[in-house]
Amino acid sequence: MAGLADVPVGSGALVDIGGDGQLLLVRPSESEVRAFNPACPHQGTTVNPPAGGTISCPTHRSAFDPATGAVLSGPSPRGLAEVAVTVSGPDVVLS
Ligand code: FES
Repeated sequence: MAGLADVPVGSGALVDIGGDGQLLLVRPSESEVRAFNPACPHQGTTVNPPAGGTISCPTHRSAFDPATGAVLSGPSPRGLAEVAVTVSGPDVVLS
């Protein structure tokens, strides 16, 4: 799905997963990668990769915790949905 080297430590990256689909990969540490559906639960805008310690939505500025996807500030009514991924050698793959 993506190369581990393409996901910066302390930030993340949007990756294409086929069709029109994307995942937001975040990398809180060298060895840990998590993935979220990047569609904002408010109105569906694709959120930005983490910057300054938060994932933000460019449309109405909802903010999400990159460690959990939880809402830090609205208007999003809920957090980002997590998708299970694992690191397999140099790659990040769907679990
Ligand atoms: S679409 Fe993301 S906050 Fe409105």
